[in-house]
Amino acid sequence: MTALPARRVPVPRPIPGYARPTGVDRCFEIDLQRFGDRRGDLVVAEVGRHLPFVVQRMYALVGVPEGAERGGHAHRALEQVMVVLSGGLDLVLDDGVTRKTLRVDDPTRAIYLRPMVWRELEAFAPNTVCMVLASEVYDEGDYLRDYEAFQEELSAWRGAAPRTSGVFAVRGDRP
Ligand code: TYD
Repeated sequence: MTALPARRVPVPRPIPGYARPTGVDRCFEIDLQRFGDRRGDLVVAEVGRHLPFVVQRMYALVGVPEGAERGGHAHRALEQVMVVLSGGLDLVLDDGVTRKTLRVDDPTRAIYLRPMVWRELEAFAPNTVCMVLASEVYDEGDYLRDYEAFQEELSAWRGAAPRTSGVFAVRGDRP
């Protein structure tokens, strides 16, 4: 009997300016695999090669009207990978200290979202299709939907009071 080959998960690339010293709340970009030819592009996200968890659930945001905002919460334990398959959106990430906005509009560049990171989705381009792969099935009890409660839980989680800092300016950030 032959053993299955070991799979290596590529080290995800930190989003510039987002890495924090604690290391507990980093989010990452993950390069997905793309097979392109004259018939178009095929993009692959495979557990163990691109996805750092076993996917239990997929949901998608579609038909988001102009000016609508989604998200506005953090998760206590859930891990997610966001893939914007079509269109684009602004993803606001906030770890209680740093708040930054990324334009997410490339289906080959997925965003890994860790637990205890507040996220807001806004400025959707028309006909945006945003797919999210999640590590757990839906559990409303995992949500923190109140920003103050998020900050309180975060400080208990870190064992320290939240600090304030400037917002990093990186390419793609809004001023
Ligand atoms: P909501 O959390 O408001 O979406 P978003 O954070 O993207 O703005 O979810 C909208 C509704 O969908 C809400 O009633 C909960 C429900 N829902 C599920 O039942 N299962 C799921 O996997 C998700 C993500 C949401």
